[in-house]
Amino acid sequence: MVAEQQTLVTFFGATGDLAKRLLYPSVFNLYKKGFLQEHFAIVGTARQEISTAEYRDMVYTAIEGDQDKERAAAFIEHFSYCASDVTEAAGYHALREAIEAASAKFGVQGNRIFYMSVAPRFFGTIAQYLKSEGLLADQGYNRIMIEKPFGTSYDTAAALQNELENAFDENQLYRIDHFLGKEMVLNIAPIRFGNPLLKAAWNKDYIKNVQVTLAETLGVEERAGYYDTAGALLDMFQNHAMQIVGWLAMEEPSSFTDTAIREAKNAAFNALQVYTPEEVARYFVRGQYGPGKEAGHVAYTEEPDVPADSKTNTYIAGELHFDTPRWAGVPFYVRSGKRLEKKTTRIDVVFKAGSFDFGNGQKSAETVLTIEVSPEEKVTLSLNAKAVADDFETRTIDLGWTPSASEKAAIPAPYERMLHDAMDGDGSNFADWNGVATAWKVTDAVSQTYAADQAPLEIYESDTMGPKAADDLLAKNGDTWVFRG
Ligand SMILES: NC(=O)c1ccc[n+]([C@@H]2O[C@H](COP(=O)([O-])OP(=O)(O)OC[C@H]3O[C@@H](n4cnc5c(N)ncnc54)[C@H](OP(=O)(O)O)[C@@H]3O)[C@@H](O)[C@H]2O)c1
Repeated sequence: MVAEQQTLVTFFGATGDLAKRLLYPSVFNLYKKGFLQEHFAIVGTARQEISTAEYRDMVYTAIEGDQDKERAAAFIEHFSYCASDVTEAAGYHALREAIEAASAKFGVQGNRIFYMSVAPRFFGTIAQYLKSEGLLADQGYNRIMIEKPFGTSYDTAAALQNELENAFDENQLYRIDHFLGKEMVLNIAPIRFGNPLLKAAWNKDYIKNVQVTLAETLGVEERAGYYDTAGALLDMFQNHAMQIVGWLAMEEPSSFTDTAIREAKNAAFNALQVYTPEEVARYFVRGQYGPGKEAGHVAYTEEPDVPADSKTNTYIAGELHFDTPRWAGVPFYVRSGKRLEKKTTRIDVVFKAGSFDFGNGQKSAETVLTIEVSPEEKVTLSLNAKAVADDFETRTIDLGWTPSASEKAAIPAPYERMLHDAMDGDGSNFADWNGVATAWKVTDAVSQTYAADQAPLEIYESDTMGPKAADDLLAKNGDTWVFRG
């Protein structure tokens, strides 16, 4: 039995791409599942002057209401629209009236969520006006959902955090990283903490290295304007990869609550080494795609709107180290790139090989726990076993699990899960400030080294798994990438 949530969500950027493509369908799913029933209201706002009727039509189209006419018609009755410019105080007065009217009409008990689906430069401004112009509820909760990116460096992130903190407490802030809403990322905790076998072995005594791979086959497409200022380092490493690393490297939480989980993650984040320029050159590899064999796969610098002399990294690989007793000496390898041979998001935890001698010099091999996040969802654990042969020989076998087709169909999209969790007051799967700040400190050290051109830029062939230097990075420690395309 799903408990009904009583809430009012204000969507800033209500006419934008994210709202139409991902947010409204997610809210509709929560409605279809009974999580939202009668006592919820949605207020949309953007500068465009449209009526509530036109806004409802827009939402109806976004949720493909034609496929479920009756339900969709009842659903959009909960939506209203108020045009406002987020940079002008006056706009918030009309918005406040719209929110109060919808709140009274649908009896939401004062609970308010403000979803910032606008350009990041507006996040701090909106937070301040929400408070100064009296848009916060006196009873119930007030929560803010913040889109990415959260800053472009530690300094800009800290300035934004400062603006948010002037109006809200940390426990009211829900920073979105949609990778944290992915089903298989959510599987890390039960696999790690629910199985004594793995829990006992989750440390330097048994783990040789940990690998996180976020590989894309697409090139920069039409996003050059944004991407050329960010690169793989800011687009994927600082946020998504680091948040996954947080689940893998964290200490064991004292309970499975958002505060305890954050505390346990921060124990690891706070022990993450921040590198000097010399260390960046040693522990990080930056690459940029050159041309590939496939038609149309030109070099990054020949893509539309990319400066011909761009040194933006379209590939990044790094070796992270945590100064904790759990992880002393264990490398966490992280890589992400565009125009790679295969698209995959996956985690490989490499366990040390045993020393038992089976005779004839045969030793057991390293074993690997793999969590494939996308495009396939799969968990695999490799073990040493006997090969079918007359002589005694060993080999590795894979134990694997993948969700059934019906389970896959039931997996909520990340945005649905995040809206659900924010309404539920569960911050477990959102990025907290301390984690974001640490990720920026580590990232800044790398980007500053690159800005000063103190490390080589490796050009790699498109449709391969990236530069050879990234293989050499692991080879120096006697390691290899588990996933090789
Ligand atoms: N789209 C995605 O797939 C995606 C994925 C991940 C994260 N995000 C993040 O989500 C946020 C929204 O992205 P988006 O792609 O939806 O952007 P978008 O399509 O450009 O939409 C921006 C929205 O903001 C409104 N807006 C712009 N200036 C405004 C102002 N001064 N006052 C009030 N409203 C204003 C726009 O409407 P008006 O012009 O009518 O005001 C529009 O509704 C960004 O932070 C982005 O980084 C997006």
